[in-house]
Amino acid sequence: MRLKDEVILITGGGSGLGRALVDRFVAEGAKVAVLDKSVDRIRQLESDYGKDVVGIVGDVRSMEDQKLAASRCVSAFGKIDTLIPNAGIWDYNTSLADLPEDTIDEAFDEIFQVNVKGYILAVKACLPALVASRGNVICTISNAGFYPNGGGPLYTATKHAVVGLVRELAYGLAPYVRVNGVGVGGINTDLRGLSSLKMSERSISEIPLAELLQDALPIGRMPNPEEYTGAYVFFATRSDSAPATGALLNFDGGMGVRGLFSTVGGKDLLEKLNIERGDENGH
Ligand SMILES: NC(=O)c1ccc[n+]([C@@H]2O[C@H](COP(=O)([O-])OP(=O)(O)OC[C@H]3O[C@@H](n4cnc5c(N)ncnc54)[C@H](O)[C@@H]3O)[C@@H](O)[C@H]2O)c1
Repeated sequence: MRLKDEVILITGGGSGLGRALVDRFVAEGAKVAVLDKSVDRIRQLESDYGKDVVGIVGDVRSMEDQKLAASRCVSAFGKIDTLIPNAGIWDYNTSLADLPEDTIDEAFDEIFQVNVKGYILAVKACLPALVASRGNVICTISNAGFYPNGGGPLYTATKHAVVGLVRELAYGLAPYVRVNGVGVGGINTDLRGLSSLKMSERSISEIPLAELLQDALPIGRMPNPEEYTGAYVFFATRSDSAPATGALLNFDGGMGVRGLFSTVGGKDLLEKLNIERGDENGH
């Protein structure tokens, strides 16, 4: 119970990573408010958690909805200690060559509105409460905030923009509000595509991500949504993370340390060190 009496507001907390964050923060003793566009998911959260979670149905692209979420959170729980801008959409790695010319205006606006403007509006709406609590912001980024091929040019540009946002806000809101980012990697969620590219009915869960990432990641497997939550608990825990602002944590299974010729540089370590397979953890 590291976060007893702390209050967290998460956007996109109805599904996937956001839902895992709600579960983890409640387990850590926090009260949680969630802004999500899905009525069903918000209802589910409220029925699962009763008074520990307040749900607000709304769109992250709307200042009005973001302000409603901030004020409902403060009226239910008295404050906001941590804001997690997290709701996002994906472009299914659509390359520039494959982007039809006449969709670019709309697709660009759609993905930047959700993935970037949605984050800016969330911080704007929560700013008075965050300054009052000397709180912090933890932005969900992505491996696509750092490396190519986690999306097409549109998605990758939005996630790089969030990296810039973390740095700018960390500077601009200091010394009152700390702002950090977590560059999570592939996760089996319900991440959706852009409606302007006719991809809103597609879900990342239909892609065999676990299989693809098994060979692509140095850690050798795709992490579960729950395994990504510890980084957020760290940044939200004042006593552990006070020096961190403007910090970007690559938390993606090691995408930045893949080798030129193979993904796993130490795959023959067990043989070299005469350690039986299954003895890796010392038993
Ligand atoms: N799934 C992955 O492999 C992966 C990898 C790296 C980063 N991410 C990032 O993780 C974050 C969470 O995505 P996820 O994978 O958990 O997806 P998800 O679709 O399972 O969850 C996102 C939630 O956000 C909500 N949402 C979407 N658009 C919204 C809007 N306009 N207004 C309000 N709510 C909205 C959805 O209803 C959903 O409940 C995103 O920022 C995504 O870019 C995901």
